[in-house]
Amino acid sequence: RENPEWHGKTMLVTAGPTRETIDPVRYFTNRSSGKMGYAIAEEASARGANVTLISGPTNLPVPRGVNFISVESAEQMRQAVYSVFQENEMVIKCAAVADYRPKNTFDQKIKKQDGEWTIEMERTNDILKGLGERRTIGQTLVGFAAESQQIEEYAKKKIVSKNVDMIVANSITSPGSGFQGDTNEVTLYKRTGEVILVPMDTKVEVAKRILDEIMIIHKEIKK
Ligand code: C5P
Repeated sequence: RENPEWHGKTMLVTAGPTRETIDPVRYFTNRSSGKMGYAIAEEASARGANVTLISGPTNLPVPRGVNFISVESAEQMRQAVYSVFQENEMVIKCAAVADYRPKNTFDQKIKKQDGEWTIEMERTNDILKGLGERRTIGQTLVGFAAESQQIEEYAKKKIVSKNVDMIVANSITSPGSGFQGDTNEVTLYKRTGEVILVPMDTKVEVAKRILDEIMIIHKEIKK
């Protein structure tokens, strides 16, 4: 799988869900398994890239040869990503970062009481949007989109609002696609307007295809 084109390329991949603390025993999270991001990191590393993987909590083994940074919350992920962003010429944001976190976290476990409990939520920082504002010439930036409806419209909007070169969109409602499973079916929306359907396959095969397209974009940007 060694590939001279990839040798020494620097790539940052984020993967997995985040955990947003409520109290010492409770948190909010999502269904991301991390499999897609780990497959991308593993394959890029096998091709010869210098890969940093920043991951929220998953059950997956750390891919061989990658620089691994483990985080929990969206805010920890943001800090880790910002600390290495400039050193990486390709950045793939696969992580399912929480959009909201509890406004208050509690040092002690909240005891159950009669009646309802309302938790106030506040927005987290959009990490990818921040990167889109800070990116420099020569950096390729790719985001993911997990949608249950109007996939194409949202993907195209994200290319502009987050200033990325490509959005990898997957339908979380179609069978064999999205979170948890070992297979995925994605559509690649490039900033150029090109649209590529990557048919249902294992996340490893889909990762290869995504990386091939990223390299094509990256070579264009480098010109
Ligand atoms: O806007 P939406 O959350 O659908 O965009 C998904 C993309 O944005 C993914 O690449 C995800 O990693 C990134 N994202 C982020 N920070 C957030 C939310 C999403 O980097 N707080």
